[in-house]
Amino acid sequence: MFKIAPRFKKEGQVKMTQKKSLPISSWDIVFPNDANPLGTMFGGRLMAIMDEMSGIAASRYCGRPAVTASTEAFIFYNPVRVGDRIETIARVVWTGTTSMVVKVQVFSENPIQGRERRQCTTAHFNMVAVDEQGKPTAVPPLLVESEEEKRDYDVAEIVKNQAIIRKSQVMERKQK
Ligand SMILES: CC(C)(COP(=O)(O)OP(=O)(O)OC[C@H]1O[C@@H](n2cnc3c(N)ncnc32)[C@H](O)[C@@H]1OP(=O)(O)O)[C@@H](O)C(=O)NCCC(=O)NCCS
Repeated sequence: MFKIAPRFKKEGQVKMTQKKSLPISSWDIVFPNDANPLGTMFGGRLMAIMDEMSGIAASRYCGRPAVTASTEAFIFYNPVRVGDRIETIARVVWTGTTSMVVKVQVFSENPIQGRERRQCTTAHFNMVAVDEQGKPTAVPPLLVESEEEKRDYDVAEIVKNQAIIRKSQVMERKQK
């Protein structure tokens, strides 16, 4: 069993108990107005569903509103077609002081054509819990127990660190 040490980086932060994160899932059917002229789903439509699910997973986890700070680059492995049904699964896989990383996976199936379930994309969303003034607020540290949770945690930590490096590089260039 893995236990990740809680992080308390910011001064004056109240100690919070570690918390387990549970996945959430939603289903959608792809209609013609979700698609481009090739009959495959717009990437932006899929990204919107993923972002929404990420927000719900993050805010259910921390009990606060959560905003998207950044995302990792998206890779679409397989096209989603009109008539497919898609399942979107989201779970908080990493926590910092006020931020969370949510892993979002999308799978498609087409029972009419008899096509089996396949993975379309996976992306990580960097979410931040905010208070009534929109300021970052503390989240409970994540309880990491299984091998899979540990793997997800490690990957998410890389994603998070890369996002921070990218942000600081962009800010540095802006100041020049
Ligand atoms: C996200 C937001 C709340 C961060 O506020 P901020 O004052 O810059 O926050 P801080 O620098 O104090 O950082 C707070 C946390 O956010 C994280 N964070 C900030 N920018 C980030 C980014 N680009 N990627 C990943 N994490 C980020 C920090 O690492 C920190 O995490 P930690 O507390 O776990 O260590 C603020 O920038 C914001 O409101 N952005 C707009 C969000 C939004 O509207 N999203 C929808 C887009 S339409």
